[in-house]
Amino acid sequence: MTSPQDLMKQEVGKAAAARVQSNTVVGLGTGSTTAFAIEFIGKRLASGELTNVQGIPTSFQATVLAKKFGIPLTTLDEAEVIHIAIDGADEVDPHKNLIKGGGAAHTQEKIVDSLAEQFIVVVDSSKMVDKLGSTFLLPVEVLPMAVTPVMRAITKLGGVPELRMGVRKAGPVVTDQGNLVIDVKFSSIDNPAELEKTLNNIPGVLENGLFVGVTDLVLVGELQGDKIVIKEI
Ligand code: 5RP
Repeated sequence: MTSPQDLMKQEVGKAAAARVQSNTVVGLGTGSTTAFAIEFIGKRLASGELTNVQGIPTSFQATVLAKKFGIPLTTLDEAEVIHIAIDGADEVDPHKNLIKGGGAAHTQEKIVDSLAEQFIVVVDSSKMVDKLGSTFLLPVEVLPMAVTPVMRAITKLGGVPELRMGVRKAGPVVTDQGNLVIDVKFSSIDNPAELEKTLNNIPGVLENGLFVGVTDLVLVGELQGDKIVIKEI
């Protein structure tokens, strides 16, 4: 049986997919919520309701799903504009700033989501927080040879770093770019914009999961009684 959380993800993914228009380039995010959006975009294309849509994937996962659901793909080299990007998040604060990277895809996601004319975040209500970092560790993608110095630098900044390990795979998680991910616990993220820059300034860091000032719209799937309601923020 589908869990209430999966139902929220499904409905919010569908709501985002419904906003995609014909003759557009769409950034395809990563994760279980965006997977529903990709599926519904594919269904709208298959039914003829949508035509001439091209996707720009943010991960191997998004590429595989786009192919499975029949969405033609393009690249940042070919597309002059990304009209809309749809992506999930691990935390969303009241200013629509995000923590992403639960799927270790935040580097490509930040490139594609930031370039989009409209960036829509799709989440279930469990992702809404008052302050970033309260429920989720902050992912930082690091070049393998720099893991130890980057961990030391993060500790000096007051963070507690932890190398992300694979599940059903021995050893660390390796990103789509061949790098590693350090998940960091900060006791409090008071200034996300400043922390985003500070972390990216550490030599060896490729990108961190703070997305500040990028989001245009958040669609939140919420369970009210036995109904899923989509809230817009
Ligand atoms: C991947 C991400 C995902 O968008 C984020 O982890 C949310 O995933 P899900 O929709 O499965 O909860 O940032 O790097």
